[in-house]
Amino acid sequence: MKIIVCKDYDEMSVEAAKIVAAQMKEKKDSILGLATGSTPLGLYNELVKMNQCGEIDFSEIKTFNLDEYYPISHKDDQSYYYFMNENLFSRVNIDPANTDIPNGEAPDAEAECKRYDAAIDASAGVDIQILGIGQNGHIAFNEASDVLHANTHQETLTENTIQANSRFFENEADVPRHALTMGVGSIMKARKIILLASGKNKRDAVRALTDDTITTQNPATLLKLHKDVIIICDEEAMG
Ligand code: PGA
Repeated sequence: MKIIVCKDYDEMSVEAAKIVAAQMKEKKDSILGLATGSTPLGLYNELVKMNQCGEIDFSEIKTFNLDEYYPISHKDDQSYYYFMNENLFSRVNIDPANTDIPNGEAPDAEAECKRYDAAIDASAGVDIQILGIGQNGHIAFNEASDVLHANTHQETLTENTIQANSRFFENEADVPRHALTMGVGSIMKARKIILLASGKNKRDAVRALTDDTITTQNPATLLKLHKDVIIICDEEAMG
């Protein structure tokens, strides 16, 4: 695991964008694994700038997103479908047909999880996976637990996650209680992973990545088993 400590959020975003851009330049039809939440917003802004000035091209890029609330309408401004369109897809020259997100509108969650895994398996596999990290160490919506899932599945959000995400909603009661999420196994299949962490509230979760232990009670620690992970964090998150 390589750790890059940046001065602040902006520097972290630029550093992450350089790595994603290098991947996109090396392989025009790269498959990107994308994350939502507040942390990757700066990275997406950097990628939009690079695309607008012709430095990177999304025309052959394919994407898979980590997760989506369930159930949720695509029109809901808190859906990750909406988030991705607002913050990246509508701002770059990506073909919407090349983007895939677990479908929060699917009538059958189990069938949708199976469809999603099949779509990832039928692709050439994620070249670079962008990850955030929860204060409790979750990656995607894989919450701390005695048992983790390898594949895409429906997850019940923990109180900690509901509270952390309530900042995006009017009331905590409005935060969806369930999500469809890639499993830890699906995430670990990516050839390269970059995990972004910013701010003091991520300090405990990041500290757990710097020692030698692995626990399902901090799902991000499983990344220690992957051979190409870069943690890019700011000084506040590193502490
Ligand atoms: P955040 O969420 O980027 O909004 O902090 C990260 C996460 O919960 O995985």
